[in-house]
Amino acid sequence: MNGPRAFGRGVPGNLAGWVWFAVSGAFVVVGPSLLRYGALPWRLPMRDVLQMIVMGASYFALAAYVVSVRHERPRWATVRVIVATTVLFVCAYGALTLFDNFARSRELFAITALIAAALAVQPVSIHRVRTVAIGAIVLGVVAVAAVISRNPREMLLANEPVQWQSGLASLELRYQSGLTGPVEGDGGGIATWGDGFLVITGRGALYHVEWDSTRTSLRSTRLPVPLPVDRAGYLADWPDPDKALRLRVTDLTIDTSSNPVRLYVSHQYWNHDRKCFTLRVSSTLLDQQRSPAGSSWTTEFESHPCLPVVPAFDDIETGGRFAWTADGKLLLSIGDHGFNGIRSPQYPQDTTVDYGKVLQRESPASRRWTIFTLGNRNPQGLVVDHEGRIWETEHGPQGGDELNVLVRGDNYGWPVATYGTEYGGTFWPLTLQARDHGSFTEPAFAFVPSIGVSSLIEVQGPMFPEWRGDLLVSSLRTRSLWRVRKRGDHVLYVEPIPIGRRVRDLVESTDGHVVLWTDDGDLVTVGRPQRNSSPEVAFGQCKPCHVPSIQGTAMGPYLRAAFERRVAGDRTYDYSAAMRSLGGSWTARRLDAFLQDPERYVPGTKMKFGGIADPEERAKVIEYLRSHR
Ligand code: HEC
Repeated sequence: MNGPRAFGRGVPGNLAGWVWFAVSGAFVVVGPSLLRYGALPWRLPMRDVLQMIVMGASYFALAAYVVSVRHERPRWATVRVIVATTVLFVCAYGALTLFDNFARSRELFAITALIAAALAVQPVSIHRVRTVAIGAIVLGVVAVAAVISRNPREMLLANEPVQWQSGLASLELRYQSGLTGPVEGDGGGIATWGDGFLVITGRGALYHVEWDSTRTSLRSTRLPVPLPVDRAGYLADWPDPDKALRLRVTDLTIDTSSNPVRLYVSHQYWNHDRKCFTLRVSSTLLDQQRSPAGSSWTTEFESHPCLPVVPAFDDIETGGRFAWTADGKLLLSIGDHGFNGIRSPQYPQDTTVDYGKVLQRESPASRRWTIFTLGNRNPQGLVVDHEGRIWETEHGPQGGDELNVLVRGDNYGWPVATYGTEYGGTFWPLTLQARDHGSFTEPAFAFVPSIGVSSLIEVQGPMFPEWRGDLLVSSLRTRSLWRVRKRGDHVLYVEPIPIGRRVRDLVESTDGHVVLWTDDGDLVTVGRPQRNSSPEVAFGQCKPCHVPSIQGTAMGPYLRAAFERRVAGDRTYDYSAAMRSLGGSWTARRLDAFLQDPERYVPGTKMKFGGIADPEERAKVIEYLRSHR
């Protein structure tokens, strides 16, 4: 035995060994999070915290293993510890993949496993000095790699804004966690209420959400409204509650034409006696104190017939979205719940049942609902635009998510007309003709492959005037928003805007912020970058013209070295004659004058930019140029 070992041959190992594991364990828990996200692990969203806990637990399991191999020859012990680290971390990662809602970053696991192996072999290795050196090199490489690969899309810390350059507008996204408590399951929705919002979770908990005074973050209060869904009674009917199907709330809407206002909630309902599902609309009154004025829920609608669990019931294809028509009537979308005619009756084309339809309530008093459109599969989004046109989004099977313009009485063709195919297949077995929808109404647009459409709104507010009249379609699968430019009833283009979360529903706030409700239970606010917030943000408005894009060219000159550079000094750029003949170099003072009004300072310049009126903001931009030389 040549060289000291932290764990002696006695049992259970000596103090130095345990101290080593306590200290290195703390590093394993905190280090990767700091390196990767620049934040302590407990500041991360819950889904990331769990990942850190799993990795920390793996390290302590490794410590226990090290104790058990301390009698081995050092070389063997080292090999074993490295193998054990690999096995443990691969298994831990595998275990996390079983849960959809937990983060699992492959890089983070790899980085942590490397660090863990380097640290855990120390107590059993005789070549302490050599391994410490190797460990330090590994740590250094890992740290550099982590910093370089730091991906801003993954730094979704609560309230830490993320900037995104979308077509026509710079965006600032803020991720706001902890507003509703654990959501346990997907679904639910958001509606505006005054200057704030009402949010309902998939399980039916209702929250009033308001802006704080800076309008950058949100706060919430749980409303003492009883749940519209009797979940406990439902679960009692399932021998194994873990295998129970979803029983979720699908949307909410508020009718402000009465006082107190009436809140409508659409949700699945379990008929305990007959053991079957329906889709219900329940309503209750809310007074201005945002508390329930009445005590209980009134059933406004119940779908027909009640659907048995076998043979085909699909708890995802529920639809269940509300919208108000231009003349004040309530619309409700209902999915086919899987009854598409393949292993079940075919409901969307059957006018004697409610499924696969959009319904319209004829009057609040009569509670009579009539078929507005049919042949809809899983209509997840409904909105009425400023011209009174009704837009609907619905899930296709594999491929073929549709954006439709709804016209009363029209048939949209499901399940005999779709641009989608069977999962894993190349055609949809019931398709009458694959090239188009034949005599059925065509969608305005179809997403192939599917984006997993959820909801949609039309942008109308003051924050994004360049988007006014565009639709924003939210997506589950691509974790994005899709901006749809439309003219009349046709679509000109669509633009994806990455959000990084499964977006379930969205609204436009009174001030024009777009507010997203996600399946994680977080709200994401989409606004403009805060003016003056930082030099980087202020410079954001120059980037579209001055920073090369993926295509590799920028329309303006290279600005990185512009500060105190000769005017028109980028040799690779073809300046206007006006800019070339200006002379001198770009001092802070000249930049300030130029940026205030480019056209006045350099008459005839090619820089078509209105200028920055706010002197503080000009100073931020100049500071950015000064520090990026
Ligand atoms: C709409 C596109 C556009 C935007 C936005 C824009 N620029 Fe420019 N910029 C140009 C073009 C084009 C030129 C070349 C002008 C010429 O040749 O007359 C230019 C030239 C310049 C120059 C002179 C460079 C040199 O080499 O002499 C500076 C400095 C400059 N821009 C700064 C900015 C800053 C700072 C912002 C953001 C606040 C900004 N620009 C925003 C298009 C733009």
